[in-house]
Amino acid sequence: MVREEFKFSFEVFNSITELNTENTLLLKEAIKATEHAYAPYSRFRVAAVARLATGETVRGTNQENASYPAGICAERVLLSAISSSYPGIAIDTIAISYHNETSDSSHPISPCGICRQSLQEYEHRQNAPIRLILGGKKGKVYIIPQSSLLMPLAFTGDELK
Ligand code: THU
Repeated sequence: MVREEFKFSFEVFNSITELNTENTLLLKEAIKATEHAYAPYSRFRVAAVARLATGETVRGTNQENASYPAGICAERVLLSAISSSYPGIAIDTIAISYHNETSDSSHPISPCGICRQSLQEYEHRQNAPIRLILGGKKGKVYIIPQSSLLMPLAFTGDELK
């Protein structure tokens, strides 16, 4: 028997004011973009904003549906939009924020399991890390250097060959 270990490190900032200028702008854009979520059922508005290798930014927000499972998370709305409208252009960083209409949204949230699966495949496809900036409307901010770190022992397309 051998014991394996999975570990990763990430940065924790006390507030958005500690970020560099470009990361501040991206997270602020994500905070603002939560306004465009369609979340009448959960009242939990999520936005994911990507900075591409070209410097352009692209937004995704969660889009719910009265048939609840038809709803889609902000992160996967974003990845689909980028893959469709900016094919072949790498994602450098994604900032994810949220506005919980019933709380103060003052701590970071991290992507759900399905979104982690999608992020790790996108990262593999573009062959370059996707940095994540996670933060609420205020409070601590996390920077995770590579999205696939959130999906250890991932199921990948390699298994299907
Ligand atoms: N949601 C996201 O958009 N991203 C996540 O990573 C977690 C959850 C959305 C899905 C649903 O519309 C609402 O937040 C509550 O789960």
